[in-house]
Amino acid sequence: MSEKNRRGTLITIRDLSRTYHDTNYTPVHALDAVNLDIEKGEFLSIIGPSGCGKTTLLRLLAGLDRAEEGSIQIEGKPILAPGPERGFIFQQAALYPWLTVEGNVGLGLKARGLFRARRQRVGDLIRMMGLAGFERSYPHEISGGMAQRAAIARALINAPEVLLLDEPLGALDAFKRIELQALLLEVWRETGATFVMVTHDVDEAIFLSERIVIMSARPGRIAKVVPVPLSASERDRGSERFLRLRTQILEELHLAAARPEPEWGL
Ligand SMILES: Nc1ncnc2c1ncn2[C@@H]1O[C@H](COP(=O)(O)OP(=O)(O)O)[C@@H](O)[C@H]1O
Ligand SMILES: [Mg+2]
Repeated sequence: MSEKNRRGTLITIRDLSRTYHDTNYTPVHALDAVNLDIEKGEFLSIIGPSGCGKTTLLRLLAGLDRAEEGSIQIEGKPILAPGPERGFIFQQAALYPWLTVEGNVGLGLKARGLFRARRQRVGDLIRMMGLAGFERSYPHEISGGMAQRAAIARALINAPEVLLLDEPLGALDAFKRIELQALLLEVWRETGATFVMVTHDVDEAIFLSERIVIMSARPGRIAKVVPVPLSASERDRGSERFLRLRTQILEELHLAAARPEPEWGL
């Protein structure tokens, strides 16, 4: 789909492990020796059973957390902290309730310069997200879908190279979700950015992505990487190839979830 954007590997993850300790100091192996290359400009989805380390992996990519072992690099540089080249969106939009839509969207703008230029950038994104007319509304005055649109605009404010999305549409009803899936696809095509999205919705993963990473239950590992070789027309949720791919992924997920947890098996 985005062959024009392909310029090789952007993010390299090598033998990445992250262990938490619960309140009894029992180790919880959230990620165990994860290896993955993320290509420039691709739309990658991550899917897997609850608790398999998807959010942990995304937080490491965002630079909000550090791994004990292994490395995670963007264009050869280790990810140690958040940076303007990486935007992120989490399930709950988490807009600041005391700021308007405009205020929230413009909050992280790094570019200095003219007030007017800043206003322009915020205004453009608000229009792109279909929020024109709601610039001065507060989060409690808009719907969940609109709040999520504002969160997407906020994440795009610094024109990031990578967008990290953790179940961004998980809290929305089916109609809103389909609407926002189309919007995400449009944003991906227009920005040429690399999208890494966690989802628990198989159809969503197939509809949006070029590759789907299936993770297995604890300790979180990559069980399989499934390419989505569908053309735009085959992304129709009723097409035969779509349905075949869905069956394949559901089977893989079933296997991934059924794997025993070695940490308890001793
Ligand atoms: N801060 C933390 N302290 C202790 N355990 C954690 C912490 N964050 C996550 N975990 C555990 O690590 C595992 C992976 O969590 P997470 O990455 O949130 O999974 P997912 O997003 O796939 O549902 C889970 O078992 C979770 O309970
Ligand atoms: Mg999660």
